[in-house]
Amino acid sequence: MKTQPVRILVIHGPNLQLLGRREVEIYGELTLEEIDRRLEEEAGRLGAELTIAQSNHEGEIVDLIGKAEGRSDAILINPAAYTHTSVAIRDALASVPVPAVEVHLSNIHRREEFRRRSLIAPAAAGQVSGFGPASYLLGLQAAVGLVRQEG
Ligand code: DQA
Repeated sequence: MKTQPVRILVIHGPNLQLLGRREVEIYGELTLEEIDRRLEEEAGRLGAELTIAQSNHEGEIVDLIGKAEGRSDAILINPAAYTHTSVAIRDALASVPVPAVEVHLSNIHRREEFRRRSLIAPAAAGQVSGFGPASYLLGLQAAVGLVRQEG
């Protein structure tokens, strides 16, 4: 019997479209396209199907999350700067029965004080932070594992 692909909604938050050019000493030289390519590769290996979106707009991210029920089995999200400010994104995640994994390229807990608090974390199943592009791949593995109920 063929198992159904796990449907993952990947959301990249504000300014992540500039990866590869933006603060490379913090975020590295990989572009968002390259991260997405690696995610697709990993998804193929894991039997997952990705829907990928990038948005600089809080409301658009809220809309994407609000429509996720029935379309996606889990959400992989890098809320970027909204991590530290957005009650709306946190509430959206808490409002849908779709588990979320929060990811960050940098280790937000060893950066400026204002980055150490994530408003999103209490609404997420877990957080992967500090491993560069590998944070996304680890987060994807975790999200697929959550859906398949693996330990
Ligand atoms: C980030 C960390 C955030 O503090 C920052 O605003 C970002 C990227 C990361 O992936 O390390 O834009 O989410």
